[in-house]
Amino acid sequence: MKIEGTTAFITGGASGIGFGIAQRLLDHGARLVLADIRQDHLDEAKQFFEERQQGRNVHTIRLDVSDRAAMAEAAKECEAVMGGPDILVNNAGIDPSGPFEQATYQDWDYGLGVNLWGPINGIMAFSPGMRARGRGGHIVNTASLAGLTPMPSFMVIYAVAKAGVITLTESIRDSMAKDNIGVTVLMPGPIKSRIHESGQNRPERFRSGSGFAETEVQLGKRVVSDTWMEPTEVGDMIVDAIVHNKLYVATHGNWRDNVRERFEAMIAAMPEPVDFDFGASLSVPDKED
Ligand SMILES: NC(=O)c1ccc[n+]([C@@H]2O[C@H](COP(=O)([O-])OP(=O)(O)OC[C@H]3O[C@@H](n4cnc5c(N)ncnc54)[C@H](O)[C@@H]3O)[C@@H](O)[C@H]2O)c1
Repeated sequence: MKIEGTTAFITGGASGIGFGIAQRLLDHGARLVLADIRQDHLDEAKQFFEERQQGRNVHTIRLDVSDRAAMAEAAKECEAVMGGPDILVNNAGIDPSGPFEQATYQDWDYGLGVNLWGPINGIMAFSPGMRARGRGGHIVNTASLAGLTPMPSFMVIYAVAKAGVITLTESIRDSMAKDNIGVTVLMPGPIKSRIHESGQNRPERFRSGSGFAETEVQLGKRVVSDTWMEPTEVGDMIVDAIVHNKLYVATHGNWRDNVRERFEAMIAAMPEPVDFDFGASLSVPDKED
């Protein structure tokens, strides 16, 4: 699809990867709606674009992606203010890692609430409008390479959510294609961002009862490495994926061997195929008239 003249709604669009995607989509002629839980991030992003005389093409919304009602309101506001969207980028995310033995339900609800339900909420709130407008479009969901390779238990909540985002994207592809809406799952490796500030981004209702308070403080001290990729490079990859409707975007090849070993081990665990059509036998019968 062509990006020029479209509207893009980007969650977590005011920092890191989302902001890199935002800059590149704007460079290619999209109007932006940036949604983020952090008002300071939104203000900074807005100022960045205003300084470049692009402020009128950027609207900001304070939003917690784990809040379904707020997501539905954001969809209405996006349509009213900027039209569309034609491009939905479900990118907002946090790092909910910590010692598995200390994880509480609050940590699970927070980690899955933002990192998995966030993209689901985005799709549920926005895709009916995208379909109804009949203009086609594209949905990008940010997962992680951590959703694809076996991870240590310290990262289990993150990995479960990100694996879910990969499967979510793959599994809605056929349905969205009927309305000419492409899908991409982004699987980044290390990218320069402020994800180490995740402790500050934990929605209020998930704070009390966390087992990860200490880990979040330590994560806050992690230094962004010069070796990590620039978010605008990811933005370039996403522009290419939207234009050419690519399902997968992986920013790094470093864990290629781990992925291959994982799938080879799974395939090795599979017996020889049985002689019947799996798909046909599992399908739900059509309703008779
Ligand atoms: N940076 C990396 O190395 C890396 C690697 C793999 C995947 N990712 C994924 O990329 C995405 C973007 O993260 P980033 O690294 O750019 O971090 P970041 O913290 O710089 O940007 C994320 C933005 O999302 C916002 N946010 C957090 N929780 C939110 C919520 N509940 N509702 C709305 N906005 C919320 C934050 O305020 C922030 O502005 C995340 O999904 C993350 O899991 C990042």
